[in-house]
Amino acid sequence: MADEQHDTIDDLLAEARTFPPPEHVTRDALVTDTALYDEAAADHEGFWARRASELVSWAREWDTVCEWELPFSKWFVGGTLNVSYNCLDRHVEAGRGDKVAIHWEGEPGDTRTLTYAEMLDEVQRFANVLKGLGVERGDRVNIYLPMVPEAAVAMLACARIGAAHSVVFGGFSSQALADRIDDAEAKVLITADGGYRRGEVFPLKPAADEAIAHTPSIEHVVVVKRGGNEVAMVDGRDHWYHDLMETADPTCPAEPMDSEQLLFLLYTSGTTGKPKGIMHTSGGYLTQVTYTAKYVFDLHPDTDVFWCTADVGWVTGHSYIVYGPMSNGATQVMYEGVPNFPGNDRFWEIVEKYGVTVLYTAPTAIRTFMKWGPEEPAKHDLSSLRLLGSVGEPINPEAWMWYHQYIGGGRCPIVDTWWQTETGGIMISPLPGVTTTKPGSATFPLPGVVAEVVDDAGERVDHGGGYLTLTRPWPGMLRGIWGDPDRYRETYWSRFPDRYFAGDGAKLDADGYLWLLGRVDDVMNISGHRISTTEVESALVSHPGVAEAAVVGATDPTTGQAIIAYVITRGGADGDGVTAEQLRAHVAAEIGAIAKPKAIFITPDLPKTRSGKIMRRLLRDVAEGRTMGDTTTLADASVVEELQRRAAESPQED
Ligand code: PRX
Repeated sequence: MADEQHDTIDDLLAEARTFPPPEHVTRDALVTDTALYDEAAADHEGFWARRASELVSWAREWDTVCEWELPFSKWFVGGTLNVSYNCLDRHVEAGRGDKVAIHWEGEPGDTRTLTYAEMLDEVQRFANVLKGLGVERGDRVNIYLPMVPEAAVAMLACARIGAAHSVVFGGFSSQALADRIDDAEAKVLITADGGYRRGEVFPLKPAADEAIAHTPSIEHVVVVKRGGNEVAMVDGRDHWYHDLMETADPTCPAEPMDSEQLLFLLYTSGTTGKPKGIMHTSGGYLTQVTYTAKYVFDLHPDTDVFWCTADVGWVTGHSYIVYGPMSNGATQVMYEGVPNFPGNDRFWEIVEKYGVTVLYTAPTAIRTFMKWGPEEPAKHDLSSLRLLGSVGEPINPEAWMWYHQYIGGGRCPIVDTWWQTETGGIMISPLPGVTTTKPGSATFPLPGVVAEVVDDAGERVDHGGGYLTLTRPWPGMLRGIWGDPDRYRETYWSRFPDRYFAGDGAKLDADGYLWLLGRVDDVMNISGHRISTTEVESALVSHPGVAEAAVVGATDPTTGQAIIAYVITRGGADGDGVTAEQLRAHVAAEIGAIAKPKAIFITPDLPKTRSGKIMRRLLRDVAEGRTMGDTTTLADASVVEELQRRAAESPQED
């Protein structure tokens, strides 16, 4: 692993502060002792089977808890259930229909409140709408929506009829959407006219139109009216959501689905240019997200107001806005917009307004709040908060302490939760009533999760740094990569025999605490979003003026990593008219604004080994302003000097 990662960890280890669960937390916490850990250690499968029967309602009990043929697992085999029944009907049947499911807040300040009974009504109607458009069990439905309640409705409606959803984050470009629709061969696309962001309407339907001009599988488009922007509707193909809902049959019984029925595909970046459709199925996934939402966030559905600030377009939104909290019958906040509209205190205004008790957000957001200063949260009464969560990237101790002090008022435990799109749910995290935390450490695997750090040779490391692996199957694990079982095996199971390799570096300290060190592959983590260097490189070379491109993730104080690109143009050294700004816009059009490089350096050459391999380590050194490491294997050492000169001359920023 790179030296800078060891430096980081050395700093962390100097961090001696520990935070035992406070008394006011242990008094009411769902878990206050090690019984769950002991139970899982004694009987892994039995542990998960008991969680599945306690937390999930089944139409038919399973025959086999787990079928494990490495690397493919099946959970609760033979069991049947309906995921939307678990998230909606069972709460209404238990007399909790009037309980608020979603307090929705639009960015302009408009609000909607949806109870569980109302959600159930919407979901049944929309399930019938989908059926009416020809969607059948096993089909795929694409969702490309802003953060509106209809996103949750659409996902649950798919689950209700056994169609798999594939949600594409609204910030992705039409090209990215088209690729994902094609790969999944989706029949229906659900989108909106537009949504609100930074005080303005961003159009979605035009991007969707561009995408489906090239996607033969889409038969119908359903359009939610949100932005009010003018859109073109194609007769027979495009339908307004509200028109279809008005005439939809209000009853759609929840039919039992096989435990292994495909629930959703979610595309994520890998180390090649082609995104992977991560497959998640029903019974095991629901068990894991219900269990983790309940115990990691210590959910008390009668009193808690949960707020996960992620977008539904990412796995965090799938597991901890839609499925986990709703399966637990929790009340939650869903917010449409950015944290700085109209002011830098918008999040804190929302916390105060709804009395949020559990807040789950990302380190990038926390570091941005730090920049805006403690006076922003100080404008609001945040005393309702009792628990804080972090996800998406390593949280540095300084950000952890700031979160603890200025948001948590020094009284709220912080759960730093490590997991991935592939794991389905949280894997490594404190339990708030049990675990003594250390700022910056995700602490220990949850009960039922077995993680080990190994060295290059795959030997277990008990103290020190290495690679994070998972050694036992878990119910929420990905079932594969859509259409590409070989890539699934190759990506996750080939580096170390019999181990799932997560792609992350990690270190165990003397007390056995886990510290995540970031990705060790060519995947970057920008503001908690995964983007592969190859994907951005492919986007760059698809520009006619670009001959070659190399992309690296450089450490950034706010976004964790920032995308830095080095480009050789066809016109030669000075770009022949191609500007860095044009190329940034081109990447945004190809992938989406989130993948726009922070800086692009147009260069006559790239540092390569004699065998022609680009030396990314050197490029990272240049991007991070470090003096060169070992350049002896370079074919032409002067290239690096030239790059350094160009970097020093032209600082580029968003
Ligand atoms: O590198 C790890 C980082 O995010 C990656 C997973 O990204 P994604 O599939 O997009 O899911 C993000 C939300 C679960 C991981 O491989 N990561 C996620 N959570 C943490 C983290 N790194 C350190 N600490 C975390 N708590």
